[in-house]
Amino acid sequence: MTVEEAAHLIIRGDVVAFPTETVYGLGADARNPAAVSKIFSLKGRPGDNPLIVHLSGRPQVSDFVAVVPPEAEKLMKKCWPGPLTIIFKKKPDVLDLITSGLPTVALRVPDHSLALALIQLTGPLVAPSANKSGRPSPTKPEHIRRDFGDDVPILDGGVCSIGLESTVIDLSKKPFTLLRPGKYTREQLSNIIGNDITYEPQTSVKPRSPGLKYSHYQPEAKVRWFHTEKNYDKNRTLLITHHDHPDGYPNHMHYSQDFDRMARELYDQFRSADFNRLTTILIEPIPDSSSHPMIAALKNRIDKAVGQEP
Ligand code: TXA
Ligand code: MG
Repeated sequence: MTVEEAAHLIIRGDVVAFPTETVYGLGADARNPAAVSKIFSLKGRPGDNPLIVHLSGRPQVSDFVAVVPPEAEKLMKKCWPGPLTIIFKKKPDVLDLITSGLPTVALRVPDHSLALALIQLTGPLVAPSANKSGRPSPTKPEHIRRDFGDDVPILDGGVCSIGLESTVIDLSKKPFTLLRPGKYTREQLSNIIGNDITYEPQTSVKPRSPGLKYSHYQPEAKVRWFHTEKNYDKNRTLLITHHDHPDGYPNHMHYSQDFDRMARELYDQFRSADFNRLTTILIEPIPDSSSHPMIAALKNRIDKAVGQEP
């Protein structure tokens, strides 16, 4: 499918999956309520989990936001296009369906030529990750086909370069808060705005980002940090390490401290383990002392996949 064909479908009210630098999104016209509600039903997404609006550039922000704080100007200038979602106070006419009735709206400009070309033709697109609710986000077209079969047309952009979802920062009120870690770290963002950013741990009882309360990123196989290993069948286990080389695991991915590659491939590893009918995914714990920028995001997604179970 070409960008023009994808745009045509979206303009007539359909939903189309398209690539971004983070993960694939399931896109619909942000001004068409019927199209936006299709996204919720296709994904099986709870209505109280709002959507990110994807823009092709800074000028479109004014369609959604009346007052842009100076800190946001700095972030947009440095980080867009790029893997940063900013939460603003919304204009009253932004669809409640998009924001789940919240007084805020999430905006981002993706750093991907196909995504930008598409949005230039269609205007702003709402786009959650293009997976069924609760499943790992898709980083290549076959992941989308696995979740949706032929129900969703796909604009093919190959493999996503980052592999984990965008950083989400809330600038709608002070103190500014990091809601989801991603490729842009809290430190990088604080340096740009010259202000501290608090981090709202995702376990909080009343999450500010509604999506944080739902289970996420989960393959069928149990995901566990390696130190909690019990007596798992090694033949039905995928071991993912970045440092150690333990013996006796026939399915072993070793990342030699390449955390960018580990982030890019994590969800594909989760999905491949399911495809190969493995029952357990064991991941070597990542030390806090490690200063690589992807580590906060990696640990966060793995912790969420591990969930509450022992
Ligand atoms: O990298 C990404 O951000 C990908 C690509 C496709 O752009 N999109 C993505 O969308 O991850 P989704 O829907 O899977 O995750 C959006 C997150 C959810 O946790 C949601 O609750 C939060 O952003 N969010 C959206 N609007 C919000 C708002 N107004 N206030 C707080 N959190 C919001
Ligand atoms: Mg998602």
